[in-house]
Amino acid sequence: MNKEGLKVDELIGHVGPLLTAAQRKKGILIHALQEAQEEHNYLPEDVLESLAAALDIPTGEVYSIASFYKQFYFQPRGRHVVCVCVGTPCHVRGSGEVLERMEEAFEVSRGGTTPDLSLTLETVGCVGCCGLAPVVTVDGRVVGDVTPQTVQKIVDLVEAT
Ligand code: FES
Repeated sequence: MNKEGLKVDELIGHVGPLLTAAQRKKGILIHALQEAQEEHNYLPEDVLESLAAALDIPTGEVYSIASFYKQFYFQPRGRHVVCVCVGTPCHVRGSGEVLERMEEAFEVSRGGTTPDLSLTLETVGCVGCCGLAPVVTVDGRVVGDVTPQTVQKIVDLVEAT
């Protein structure tokens, strides 16, 4: 209630039910997108279109909402995700060369996924472990003090799992 004792419904009038319906759909949409990505490992176009139809939301809006969140992917991703930190502390300590070695070893460019979908190689601005620079994450696990020489250990670890 506000100072005049009016309830929220009275203040926003007929807009209230409209907002509630829209918010409910968008709340369901985020959860549905998360579930769909869990199932497919990314969000295929036909899944986005199907969700849009099921929720009666324009496909463009579904894509717009999904693309707002960094957690959603629109291209197939690998079973493993290796992420090389290229933030300034990591860069200064040689992450550029680490990245080059990773690209050579996995035969994929940054941002890319191997054709067999075994691996996606990404870069990130900082993972919050600058004291361990240069840092790589392997499926979310932090590996610090990475050198070009230790890249092969990471490659072996990923290929063994
Ligand atoms: S810049 Fe690499 S962990 Fe912070």
